[in-house]
Amino acid sequence: MKVLICPDAARASDRVAGMIVARLARAPRTVLGLATGGTMEAVYERLIAAHREGLVSFAHAQSFNLDEYVGLPPDHPRSYRHYMQEHLFDRVDFAAGATHLPLGDAVDPGAEAARYEAAIVAAGDIGLQLLGLGANGHIGFNEPTSSLASLTRVKTLTRQTRAANARFFPDPAQVPRFAITMGIGTILRADEVVLLALGAGKAEAATRMIEGPLSAACPASALQFHRHATVVLDEAAAARLTLRDYYEDVHPEGGPAPI
Ligand code: F6R
Repeated sequence: MKVLICPDAARASDRVAGMIVARLARAPRTVLGLATGGTMEAVYERLIAAHREGLVSFAHAQSFNLDEYVGLPPDHPRSYRHYMQEHLFDRVDFAAGATHLPLGDAVDPGAEAARYEAAIVAAGDIGLQLLGLGANGHIGFNEPTSSLASLTRVKTLTRQTRAANARFFPDPAQVPRFAITMGIGTILRADEVVLLALGAGKAEAATRMIEGPLSAACPASALQFHRHATVVLDEAAAARLTLRDYYEDVHPEGGPAPI
């Protein structure tokens, strides 16, 4: 696992956006795995800016998002489809039909999860998977005790995750209880994985992910099994790492400027 510690959140977001831009320059037909949440907003802003400057095109790429809330139709203002349209898709040049999310309002969410997994396989699996990190160690909505071999399926959200995501809803009671999420096995099949975690609230989970035992109790620790995983942290999220000196010796300030 490559651990890049950047001086602040802005530079960490620059670093991740730069990795996506570099991947698309090298392989324009990349299948991107995308995430939602507060952490990704700055990454998407940077991708939009890079697109406007002519530095990146998504015209030949496809995307599959990690997850979607069960029960929310795509046009619901709190759905992840809506988030993605607003924060990225409507502002760059993906081809029509090239962006995919699970359908939150599918009549049979279990069947929808299986369809989504099959669509990812049919696309040749994810080329570059972008991930955020839950304070409880989740990736996607693979909550603690998720099978480390899991595929896309319906998961029940923990109270902690629902409380963390309540800030996006007018009333905390409206946060859905279930989500369709790619599994950890789905994520591990990606060619390359890039995880971004920012702030002191992620420091404990980041330490468990990088230095803790491989355990379903911290789903993100499964990335220790991935051959090409990069974790990008700001100083605050890196604050509890035991081997921090080592990571900083290998990649001072998170490595060279990306764009
Ligand atoms: C979102 C997702 C989640 C978030 C994580 C961090 O699609 O899959 O795993 O990445 O909950 O969320 P933020 O960035 O809001 O702290």
